[in-house]
Amino acid sequence: MKTRPIGIFDSGVGGLTVVKQIFKRLPNEEIVYLGDTARVPYGTKSPETIKKYSVENADFLMRFKVKLIVVACNTASSTSLDALREKFSIPIVGVIKPGAEKAVQVTRNNRVGIIGTYTTVKSKAYEKELRHFSRDVEAVSKACPLFVPLVEEGWLKEGVTFDIVKKYLKPLMAKKIDTLILGCTHYPLLKPVISKVMGRHVKIVDSASSVADEVHNILMALGKLSGQKKPKHKFFATDAVEHFVRVGEKFLGTKIKGARKADYV
Ligand code: DGL
Repeated sequence: MKTRPIGIFDSGVGGLTVVKQIFKRLPNEEIVYLGDTARVPYGTKSPETIKKYSVENADFLMRFKVKLIVVACNTASSTSLDALREKFSIPIVGVIKPGAEKAVQVTRNNRVGIIGTYTTVKSKAYEKELRHFSRDVEAVSKACPLFVPLVEEGWLKEGVTFDIVKKYLKPLMAKKIDTLILGCTHYPLLKPVISKVMGRHVKIVDSASSVADEVHNILMALGKLSGQKKPKHKFFATDAVEHFVRVGEKFLGTKIKGARKADYV
């Protein structure tokens, strides 16, 4: 049971920013990653559609007898956790709660900004979690739909990227937030530009490392931490595997070997 893999899914490559942190925090764990590249983006789709996709993705991961599933996608986490927990009896970890908890810990003036996809922002999932941790926090959110294609294109430092980031973030700056949650798995790659636009006084919260901590804590509490010396990882995409590997390596910062097409879509 301890050596069973951790299943991780995202709508595409973005969830690999979470995998990177899991590799750092849990180097002895084997992972099975699934990027639903055939149906990306999730951020513009309805909660019903995303729920259906999320359950199908988890069903696929269950084929590998995973011991825990990480929903490494903010849009899927903000819409599908209840449906997944209802259907599957293993622990399901989302990315919203760890990000909200961290933001509450770091804010000094209780003004927290949230950026994400349309569906994540509309769901108000971050606001609900923030309220769960603190009644005093005032949240302000903004959908930034152009950030995902900019990251996928690798335009991380271009002048045009800076201008787009500035245009989206201006209303948040006006609200005098001191903490900004990156509520989308793609956004950590834009962190330097976002930080430059917001200024040093605004703390940027990226939930990936908090998610890895939460996975560690859950597995430890259950006595299911693996001690494997050389865990073997598996990577799947539902379409365009080569493209997934090429872009994904930027997110992961290492080579992705042996990626295959998942056959259920
Ligand atoms: N992975 C998605 C998220 O974190 C962003 C990409 C998409 O829209 O599918 O919200």
